[in-house]
Amino acid sequence: MIDPTSKYKMLEDLDLSGKRVMVRVDFNVPLHNGNITDDSRIKSALPTINYLIDSEAKIVLTSHLGRPGSEVKENLRLDPVGERLLELVDTGVKKLDDCIGPHVQEEIEEAETGDILLLENTRFHPGEKADDEGFVDSLSKLADVFVNDAFGMVHRKHASNYGVATKLPAAAGKLILKEVEGLTPAVSNPNHPFVAIIGGKKASSKIGALWDLMDRVDTFLIGGALAFTFLHAQGHLVGNSLVEDSMVDEVRDFLEKINEDRKTNILLPKDAKVSQELADTGEVKTVDAEKIPPEWMGLDIGPVTIREYRKAIEPAKTLVWAGPMGAFELKPFQAGTKEVAEMVAETSGYRIIGGGETGAAIKDLGFGDDMDHVSTGGGACLGFLRGKELPALEILKAE
Ligand code: 3PG
Ligand code: MG
Repeated sequence: MIDPTSKYKMLEDLDLSGKRVMVRVDFNVPLHNGNITDDSRIKSALPTINYLIDSEAKIVLTSHLGRPGSEVKENLRLDPVGERLLELVDTGVKKLDDCIGPHVQEEIEEAETGDILLLENTRFHPGEKADDEGFVDSLSKLADVFVNDAFGMVHRKHASNYGVATKLPAAAGKLILKEVEGLTPAVSNPNHPFVAIIGGKKASSKIGALWDLMDRVDTFLIGGALAFTFLHAQGHLVGNSLVEDSMVDEVRDFLEKINEDRKTNILLPKDAKVSQELADTGEVKTVDAEKIPPEWMGLDIGPVTIREYRKAIEPAKTLVWAGPMGAFELKPFQAGTKEVAEMVAETSGYRIIGGGETGAAIKDLGFGDDMDHVSTGGGACLGFLRGKELPALEILKAE
């Protein structure tokens, strides 16, 4: 179980001037046709990067991008990330074509203090995900000290975010500390009512969090495609909506447990916006979410549901939101996510937005600054909120 009050080794404890400092960042940004569609993860690393520039360190950045499957994938090179980073910092950024080897080592030797070298996607090497000893050594010998600022990766035990921390003097970067501070109010002694809004596509990626949060949360509000797996598990007619068949039994167990305990409420959509296709061009109607006609699929929560959810959100003192309420990337199905964002922004409780899609949606809708904490992590953020032990954080704890 994670101890949110833990102390971490800090950047300020390291001797940095003139040193080769390897910083593991999470520059796993969303790309569309080679263009970055959300640069939050790059911007979030700037406090650490700027601190290192001021400390006259040689900055060696490592990151993964996507899931290349341990081989070089041209479309997953970090070049677009390097270009964006260059626009955000007051120093040179040189992107290298590998992350280990003699050429990389030479480039680092030749770099001036205050320069940034961005190494290539660590996941091009099989040793990365395997936390392979040889690969860890190849990375470690490129630096004198190690800083982990890749919060989005703390649930993973890979070479570049875990292995290297076992070999070099290591510290947590400023983003990691900010995330820990921002998420902790929902983990240790949260204020009640505690409302968790859980959406997104897959029940399988959220069910673990639902089980773990059950003791702490007063009300779950369920939206997104995963709501239809819940409604289906209750025996309702969900038409052509997305249902994860492999999850139906577990979802049913979860709902039964909630019913038995009677300590936690769960609200499911009462009505849904439906269409016959996943597009913004077809006919859209609002129907009873428990009686969706065959051929029609639920793509957003409806107005009755929004009204119900408002009643639960308004008094919340702690609020966690992970996963959009509908297919918000399509205009006709934006309202659920948008209205919920507005309600959350208006509450006086402590508001945490889980990372990835939800964070991007909230920012797109213009509510990013109204929240108390918008996490850069998806799986990592949920892992932290669940109270799970996160290997790449554990290794950074101060003795
Ligand atoms: C994320 O986006 O969740 C992190 O960058 C980790 O990536 P992964 O889920 O592919 O390990
Ligand atoms: Mg992930």
